[in-house]
Amino acid sequence: MIKIAPSILAADFTRLGAEVAEVEAAGADYLHVDVMDGMFVPNISIGIPVLKSLRKATDMFLDVHLMIERPLRYVEAFCEAGADLVNFHIEADAQENIIQAIAAAKALGKKTGVTLKPHTPAEAVMHFLPLVDLILVMTVEPGFGGQSFMYEQLPKISKIRELADTLAPMCEVEVDGGIDAVTAPLAVEAGADVLVAGSAVFGRSDRAAAIAELRKYTDSM
Ligand code: DX5
Ligand code: ZN
Repeated sequence: MIKIAPSILAADFTRLGAEVAEVEAAGADYLHVDVMDGMFVPNISIGIPVLKSLRKATDMFLDVHLMIERPLRYVEAFCEAGADLVNFHIEADAQENIIQAIAAAKALGKKTGVTLKPHTPAEAVMHFLPLVDLILVMTVEPGFGGQSFMYEQLPKISKIRELADTLAPMCEVEVDGGIDAVTAPLAVEAGADVLVAGSAVFGRSDRAAAIAELRKYTDSM
């Protein structure tokens, strides 16, 4: 079964606890937490104190997407704040530093992932595949919710799933950006195991219906 990871970037932050409880009750699998530093991406979102509060409010699996420069500096802080999985952008630092960040998160008992911007080729995951639990493929330029899905990323999703099948079959492929009822089946057909959805879930008043809609076609695939 495909996993659904609502992104709280599109949630109402004045009632974040209630928003999270709604998607948990609706059967969401992961809670996707977008962290932006205004350097790696041209936007600033949330950070460690919000993650700590989320950890107190829910038992959901917290999938933390770090859109920050040199994430090695903060990996321990995010792990201690309550992340279950930490995603590092491949482009955010030199390869050896990203590998060190992965090792640091693992040493603290966390799952790890690496993330690719749209212009980063699939082959860039080769060195990381044996080390991580998940590869996150961006289907928009990171930084903002509500953008349109980049259809030209579909072959890259397939390529990464293929590489993972050979090098690390248990590794999940997660897709983030512009996922809705139309694009979800395409991403799954290409090889996605986890779908991040911000606007398509929190932009709707009935979150259970929104999640059911994302599952409608993907669960039979
Ligand atoms: C964008 C973030 C996404 C974003 C997705 O930088 O990584 O997780 O919240 O939002 P939608 O689903 O609205 O494209
Ligand atoms: Zn994200």
